[in-house]
Amino acid sequence: MEDVYAVILAAGAGTRMKSEKAKVTHELCGKPMINWVIDAVKGAGVTEVIVVTGYQEEQVRSRISEDVIFASQKEQLGTGHALMQTLPLLNDKKGSCLVLCGDIPLITAQTLRHMVKDHIHNGRAMTLLTAVVEDPDGYGRIIRDSGGNACRIVEHKDADAEQLKIKEINSGIYCYDIQWLVKSLKGLDNNNEQKEYYLTDTMAIIYENGGNIGAIILDNHEEMLGINDRVQLAAAERVLNRRIIERHMKNGVTFLIPDSCIVEESVSIGPDTVIYPGTILKGSTSIDSNCVIGPNCMISDTMIGKNTKVICSIISESQIGEHTTVGPFAYLRPGSIVGEKVKIGDFVEIKKSIIGDETKISHLTYVGDAEIGKNVNLGCGVVFVNYDGKVKNKTIVGDNSFIGCNVNLISPVEVKPNSYIAAGSTITEEVPEYSLAIARSRQTIIKDWVIKRGRLRGKESDN
Ligand code: UD1
Ligand code: CA
Repeated sequence: MEDVYAVILAAGAGTRMKSEKAKVTHELCGKPMINWVIDAVKGAGVTEVIVVTGYQEEQVRSRISEDVIFASQKEQLGTGHALMQTLPLLNDKKGSCLVLCGDIPLITAQTLRHMVKDHIHNGRAMTLLTAVVEDPDGYGRIIRDSGGNACRIVEHKDADAEQLKIKEINSGIYCYDIQWLVKSLKGLDNNNEQKEYYLTDTMAIIYENGGNIGAIILDNHEEMLGINDRVQLAAAERVLNRRIIERHMKNGVTFLIPDSCIVEESVSIGPDTVIYPGTILKGSTSIDSNCVIGPNCMISDTMIGKNTKVICSIISESQIGEHTTVGPFAYLRPGSIVGEKVKIGDFVEIKKSIIGDETKISHLTYVGDAEIGKNVNLGCGVVFVNYDGKVKNKTIVGDNSFIGCNVNLISPVEVKPNSYIAAGSTITEEVPEYSLAIARSRQTIIKDWVIKRGRLRGKESDN
């Protein structure tokens, strides 16, 4: 492909979103709207991408990690005016330039590539993508001349009753010959309902000057969905989520009810992993092969090894080894590093702790700021008392130790390897290797207390 430029318009506020944030920074499947468009353009082989920013310029620019050139539109006077701001960059260039709105995240690299090829092959002044839709509300309408050639676009707000009935709409995706674009932009005015410089008016100018225009009607109009409000945002997110999940399914991942899951773009999943309904996978999460995840898990920025099971649990910024089980109802907070063949059972919370291989933490336990060795058993209801009201302290539990039920480990404290702690103990001092620690008061029996005190309950007490 010859050198192709692209301009993405992202200077508008997006008032219909009713948001404090600029429209193009709203995320879909974990990626800002504008980045979906940039990635599609780059995937189509475009060499130089120019992004026009204006409203909340700094915030918008800070969300863009890709290599692009920025142009600034200080006042938002319309899409045509936005493009005029790129004239210093394009003026003396030759070749083709894609122009897209920044609010069409569903557009694919494949469609753009096809469009650019067709444009260049036919040596046109302008090519645009259109679609025939059931509900053209809000979109610009394509007007065709008596010969059936597309000759201009009428914006919804400027359209008369007859024009409003037209179902062929402007996608906001164009490919221009750069010199034709430069010339037509110079002819724009703002004599319309919105008092804006419409990019769409370039079409009539090119047509009247004898330029060759092609309107490609796209069958898959899903790709053109423009996001103007939250309803359209949700509709687009559904499509992107489905695309992501289908990609994983094609790579060998089973999803039981795909539509019930949300998987962000940056997540990776190995083959033969099974994802049960209600699972949300976010950020840089990577799940290895043959795992079982869900139902009802939320996992963010976490690495999970092969053959591991996670059921009904929440995990963030953590690492989990192979052949481990987590849940149901476990909560792993940032910095949890869990080894292989570990069991983290129900109602266990772990925070910023290392858990060695083959250790079992089966139920109702809080582990915070701890280093637990290998093959340790924590009974039910163990609490790592890591916070003294001022600072967080560390607890170390050595390999092969056994901590009985309902033990409090008052940190900082160390339990040496191969030791036992009796149930119900409150441990404040180091437990040496090979020893048993008991730290609870002895049981007292007061004989016949119930009868002497007249405290018998149930049937006999009626007498
Ligand atoms: C635009 C088209 C319409 C088309 C629709 C497709 C025009 C005049 N209309 O309408 O024909 O059917 O897209 O989705 O082009 N922007 C700027 N600066 C501005 C105004 C807008 O950069 O001064 C940017 C916005 O950030 C946005 C894009 O241009 O990303 C489109 O603007 P928007 O107001 O959403 O245009 P539509 O009314 O949807
Ligand atoms: Ca729009």
